Amino acid sequence: MNLKPETLKRIDEVITHYPVKRSATLPLLHLIQEDIGYLPPETVEWVAAKLEIQPINVHEVITFYPMFRQSPIGRRHIKVCRTLSCALSGGYKTCDTFKQEFNTGLNQVSPDGEVTIEFVECLASCGTAPVVMIDEQLHENVDCAKAKELAARIKAEAAQR
Ligand code: FES
Repeated sequence: MNLKPETLKRIDEVITHYPVKRSATLPLLHLIQEDIGYLPPETVEWVAAKLEIQPINVHEVITFYPMFRQSPIGRRHIKVCRTLSCALSGGYKTCDTFKQEFNTGLNQVSPDGEVTIEFVECLASCGTAPVVMIDEQLHENVDCAKAKELAARIKAEAAQR
């Protein structure tokens, strides 16, 4: 696995928090996904060896939880809430705006490699719906106009690279 040294250090440290190594499966998968953006196929064998469990035990966790990604995502990750408050406040239109702005569908990497748009469940800010999370930053009251502004900002930042 091609992980950053700091991730490897955190992984070794996290394992010590659990009396049974297997219990560290979820945290390890989160750390790997945080580091490389998704869980490549070699994750299964690597984590299994690290925790001294069978590969199938890792595979079943990866495939059970929808938050684990098995393919790469764009440089920026746009998560649009689709739960009730956001849906009633225009979340679907917000999502469509992002899709149009980046010429892509849900859960794909946009043609320029810049974004992946995902519909997610409640982001815990229902009073300020529709809500969008871009990477680690929460954006509130994201109507279509604000979605266009945010998309323009992402494109401008990409152009500076
Ligand atoms: S319903 Fe969208 S943040 Fe809760």
